[in-house]
Amino acid sequence: MNATALTATKAWSRLELLAQTIGAQHIRDLFNVDAHRPAAFTCEAVGIRLDLSRQRITSTVVEALYDLANERGLAEARDAMFAGEHINNTENRAVLHAALRLPRHATLEVDGHDVVPDIHEVLDRMAELVTSVRSGAWTGATGAPIRTIVNIGIGGSDLGPVMAYEALRHYATHDLNFHFVSNVDGTDIAEVLKAIDPLETLFIVASKTFSTQETMMNAQSARDALLASLPSPDAGAVAKHFVAVSTNAQRVSDFGIDTNNMFGFWDWVGGRYSMDSAIGLSTMFAIGSDAFRMLLDGFHAMDEHFKSAPLAENLPVLMGLVGLWNRSLLGIETVAVLPYDQYLKRFPAYLQQLIMESNGKSVTKDGQSVGVHTGAVYWGEPGTNGQHSFYQLLHQGTSTIAADVLVVAQSHNKLGAHHDVLVSNALGQANVLAFGRSVEQLVAHNVPAELVAHKTMPGNRPTTVIAVKTVDPFTLGALVALYEHMVFVQGVIWGINPFDQWGVELGKEMATSIAPFLTSDDELDGFDTATQESIRWYRKNR
Ligand code: F6P
Repeated sequence: MNATALTATKAWSRLELLAQTIGAQHIRDLFNVDAHRPAAFTCEAVGIRLDLSRQRITSTVVEALYDLANERGLAEARDAMFAGEHINNTENRAVLHAALRLPRHATLEVDGHDVVPDIHEVLDRMAELVTSVRSGAWTGATGAPIRTIVNIGIGGSDLGPVMAYEALRHYATHDLNFHFVSNVDGTDIAEVLKAIDPLETLFIVASKTFSTQETMMNAQSARDALLASLPSPDAGAVAKHFVAVSTNAQRVSDFGIDTNNMFGFWDWVGGRYSMDSAIGLSTMFAIGSDAFRMLLDGFHAMDEHFKSAPLAENLPVLMGLVGLWNRSLLGIETVAVLPYDQYLKRFPAYLQQLIMESNGKSVTKDGQSVGVHTGAVYWGEPGTNGQHSFYQLLHQGTSTIAADVLVVAQSHNKLGAHHDVLVSNALGQANVLAFGRSVEQLVAHNVPAELVAHKTMPGNRPTTVIAVKTVDPFTLGALVALYEHMVFVQGVIWGINPFDQWGVELGKEMATSIAPFLTSDDELDGFDTATQESIRWYRKNR
């Protein structure tokens, strides 16, 4: 990457000026000047229609953003990622989640070794397991068929599987029940254990490292529950009810899981980029291996688009640059993700980890301060539920919050007028967020004078409308890959490493050092006084 500081680039100075002029204009005025903005700022690829017309941009801004991308070496950085260079510099790793969705006939050398056969070997073994369980050939310790799948994992080993299961429920088998356990809070696993029969359950322990505290505790509790439910002791029971998804064979075997039932992936797949690796085993159980391949094909189609489409038609590039304009030049801190599709209800939670764990950084790859605001806060809820909750603040609060509104043309559940009403809400909200209601409009509508201030909607909330035909496996893959590459684009421009997560480590260390003090009377001198008091309170009340 170009070593020049971001703020020292020519394009940056130009963008700073544009932020004060065009960025300060109202979206309403931008449309008054040019009613053809939707044609100019809408792009379609891989079944996704990206409409950026309700953003505070003009073609001059977009051109300057392209210049910035070029000055920051975006194309070279992208090619380096796809070529398997060790762009995750703080962990000295390649970043190759895109390899996970390569077709069987492709080749890709990573550190001198073609990884595509390895990837497909794992996919094939996953498919065999899925067929064996779904057909009833695989039975549990008492000979009972498997009726329930419980995925135990956290972060990237949970959020992708949960999101994909919910998003693709329409395609899921009804012969299996699915549960997802992540929190170290015992309530999470306890409530699942109350609802299932361990003797008819296959537990997937999903952990890249197989050392994550939450996952290992939950896996142990699940194992205890299985052993307690056995009619008689059976040394082979764990192997019949537990499979693992991990990069760490030794730890898997130490846990008692047969490594023949371990599905591997590689250190060049980050946790939050792993839902299309073996971490997606629960997804494959739900939708079957053919539909899982379609999911991978959707990811791959977006990878190819990102690699080859010119900047002006490149969806991840456009979304990444406009997001960066909002965050670093217009100072907009957060983006609400508003899916108008119930199946996408966990998509905001999934994006939170993908985007915030990736770009929540303040130093560049070489340890210098970035010097501008980076990663936006992403959050959200499905469509109309959010409208009756937090949209008030979106519309009339004092902060400007950008929005990604996701619209789906065809519902899987055609039920009277439900879907038309849903879409009318999505488009209505996008309209109000962007254009608002001016005093003049209210007066023209005879709104009583004393209510005009209360009913005025400032609008000017930068709003992206992302539309897809339907939520199917292919489209979901393409949508996730769109956001993955958007994150990458922004990381390159900011000069940060989106693929490490040092910020989460210290909290884990602190928790480990506090744990023994909660249940002992040991002196607390090593802790700050606030922590000491909290520990004392807990000791008294536990
Ligand atoms: O939260 C930190 C993190 O390392 C995430 O990046 C990762 O997805 C999660 O923990 C779970 O890690 P593992 O899959 O190794 O259990």
